[in-house]
Amino acid sequence: MNSLKLTVATLVLAGLTSGAGAQITNSAHDFSSYSWSGGEICKPCHTPHFANTAAGRLWNHTLSTATYTMFDGATGDSSDLDRESRLCLSCHDGTVALDSFGGMTGTNFIPGGANIGTDLTNDHPIGRDAVYPTTTSTRFNPQNASHQVVSTWGTLRLKSWTNSAGAEQFVVGCRTCHNVHNAGNFNHMLNFSNASSHLCLTCHIK
Ligand code: HEC
Ligand code: HEC
Ligand code: HEC
Ligand code: HEC
Repeated sequence: MNSLKLTVATLVLAGLTSGAGAQITNSAHDFSSYSWSGGEICKPCHTPHFANTAAGRLWNHTLSTATYTMFDGATGDSSDLDRESRLCLSCHDGTVALDSFGGMTGTNFIPGGANIGTDLTNDHPIGRDAVYPTTTSTRFNPQNASHQVVSTWGTLRLKSWTNSAGAEQFVVGCRTCHNVHNAGNFNHMLNFSNASSHLCLTCHIK
């Protein structure tokens, strides 16, 4: 009897701790309280029908056509970014309204510090400027055969990117550091905690 009760209680607790509270609901990406969202969470980003197949991931948000200043200072565009960073910048470069999805043209733009702009010189290198080393060096822990960088604190995934010569390379992208669905509920929607700079130290030997 008692052990059965305990099992039920444990299951309920497990459900609570791994449930919606630690996910996208109530995160910075839960748009359901904004009037333009129609009360839905997924829809500004994904759609079950009529998706942008070129963007992938059943994408619903209008993509940016901005010209970027890459970290090295040279001019770039979406072809200089990995595919998922393009999806992030469709809101985060501030050129396309948040409510431009499903074919609508919106008027509400991303506010404040979340608008990283089209000048990427003041952001951590991504895409073309962040091709990740495959061999051990004095500066970087190398990527493994699965294009991940693994430390005792966690695993970070590099992103596939095709360079101008048509060769596939593995780069740092927004998704390398962040989880867009807030899995784990870490500060700034990071893939794992950056306490004591553990995220940075996973790649950089310092
Ligand atoms: C702010 C934009 C955004 C919102 C809101 C969002 N997603 Fe995503 N989703 C993304 C991006 C970007 C990717 C690709 C990167 C990745 O896989 O993490 C993705 C990938 C996915 C994937 C494929 C990868 C996987 O994790 O299995 C699924 C499934 C998915 N989303 C489901 C959902 C559902 C369901 C919701 C609503 C409850 C939702 N997403 C809300 C942006 C969003
Ligand atoms: C549909 C538009 C949209 C897309 C697509 C989108 N975001 Fe956001 N993001 C937002 C908005 C809106 C906020 C909250 C801004 C505010 O209110 O300060 C936000 C906030 C954030 C924050 C701050 C979270 C915090 O708690 O401080 C991070 C980090 C972030 N987004 C990363 C990403 C990444 C990485 C991607 C792609 C994988 C992405 N976003 C895609 C709209 C978007
Ligand atoms: C190398 C890891 C890394 C990459 C790559 C990265 N970020 Fe971040 N991001 C962080 C960290 C760490 C923070 C928290 C900074 C802090 O502690 O203030 C952050 C914070 C943010 C915030 C919150 C800023 C604020 O002041 O509210 C947003 C929005 C964001 N990132 C979006 C992005 C987007 C979009 C991309 C891709 C263009 C991206 N990040 C790429 C590590 C990264
Ligand atoms: C996934 C691996 C990865 C993570 C995580 C990461 N970096 Fe980087 N970082 C890179 C790569 C790749 C470059 C660009 C190549 C180079 O510098 O040779 C870079 C470049 C830099 C640079 C040099 C910029 C310049 O002027 O050339 C600094 C500083 C830096 N990162 C700091 C950080 C900090 C701080 C964090 C944590 C918030 C962090 N990095 C997280 C991979 C990473």
